[in-house]
Amino acid sequence: MSFEDSDYISANIVPVIDLPDNLRQSERVQRIFNEYKKHFGSSRPLFLVRVPGRVNLIGEHIDYCGYSVLPMAVVQDIMMAVGPSDSGLLHLANFDNQYPEVTIEESDIEFPKSIKWYHYFLCGYKGIVDKYCIDGPVPSMNVLVHGTIPAASGLSSSSAMVCASALSTLISYHQSIFKISTPIPKLDIALLCTKSERYIGTDSGGMDQAIAMLAEEGSAKIIDFIPQLNATNVDLPEGVCWFVAHCGVSMQKAATAHYNTRVAETRLAAAVIARRCKIAGYKLGDQLWVVQQASAIPLAEMGEHLASILDSEKEFYTKSEICSILGIDSNELHKIFLSRVSEPIEEFKLYQRAKHVYEEAYRVQEFRKVCDTTKDVEHLGQLMIESHESCRDLYECSSPQLDELVALALENGAIGSRLTGAGWGGCTVSLVYEENAQDFESALSRQCKFLCRTNPSGGAIIYQN
Ligand code: GLA
Repeated sequence: MSFEDSDYISANIVPVIDLPDNLRQSERVQRIFNEYKKHFGSSRPLFLVRVPGRVNLIGEHIDYCGYSVLPMAVVQDIMMAVGPSDSGLLHLANFDNQYPEVTIEESDIEFPKSIKWYHYFLCGYKGIVDKYCIDGPVPSMNVLVHGTIPAASGLSSSSAMVCASALSTLISYHQSIFKISTPIPKLDIALLCTKSERYIGTDSGGMDQAIAMLAEEGSAKIIDFIPQLNATNVDLPEGVCWFVAHCGVSMQKAATAHYNTRVAETRLAAAVIARRCKIAGYKLGDQLWVVQQASAIPLAEMGEHLASILDSEKEFYTKSEICSILGIDSNELHKIFLSRVSEPIEEFKLYQRAKHVYEEAYRVQEFRKVCDTTKDVEHLGQLMIESHESCRDLYECSSPQLDELVALALENGAIGSRLTGAGWGGCTVSLVYEENAQDFESALSRQCKFLCRTNPSGGAIIYQN
């Protein structure tokens, strides 16, 4: 069977193409090949996998509540050069020598509390091995990783690594069994990687893996999770450009309890809403979209309506208050909602978190509508500003450095600016008129350790060598 480029798009299959000459001759690939040789002897890699990072334009911390988000892939990416090894082991090397080389046996795979760079590789590897390599041999590979996505910056270097590892493992497995590449559906890998990245300990929602796999050059995507994972092109307005800027403080979401605490708070909010509104069919642990859909309150009104369900004046709910509202004891509460939160917490903000989620989900709908209809750039900018304010004040996932950077962007002509990704550090994304781009760039570059103008890049691809 032979797959043409157009089949890949329509069939949603990960493209597998011969390594184009211009890429082969590029300085980057030449350096990757040399380094591969240095680590693994003279054998050349069999294939290269490229998976991009992403910038989320709008829709923060709502994917794990079941709501759509609007990211685009960036040009920064992870490239892996992969070849078979007959050692029965995984040899993982990184071009960046702050990440030491490792050799791992499949039976030794574990995910300790202190996460090292290669654990992200092991997430994708284990996900594939557990699902696909049931009867066949587990792939033994030599892998050299070369990444250009700044780590811990909210641009999803971790998911790019997980997806690239899953693809490397699956292709290696197919080749060892069938001696050919078997078509790989993008959606399956996105879903598998969403689950397997959770081995690291963070209960992330699926946006990053979805855009990494499903992105298409030239287009942002709206990613839906309900009723199933789906990605649709969104045409961004012309005459504007997008800048990603780093606030100077890194944030590794797996290293703190912030992220999983927010996930837990949204689920607790859903539970309290469901109990107070007597929502039929709701199960403890369900996401916020479930209660909104069952209550038949339009998303546009949900944020306002919340004040009549949850106490908007209350700074937080205690554990025992929540237990008594839900009619469960603290062990059950812990088991259902808190087992993945690594630090003890006694107080939960429910109104604030739920309000952010519903209003942010509505902003995504609005943003998309504007892109599809009026393309009113000022309106898009306003939605981004509101999104940032909500992340800062209601969701509390910003940081002083991110707030300063957003302010600086707006002072220097950005139409909209907001934190992107999980937050608590990392990057902002700003919308800027093309004619102001140069001035904007020179003003911000004085303050940022990483600043780049970005266009929607393509999703995961495999190059046969
Ligand atoms: C991280 C997670 C995503 C998403 C964002 C916040 O990037 O991996 O699933 O929740 O944070 O929007």
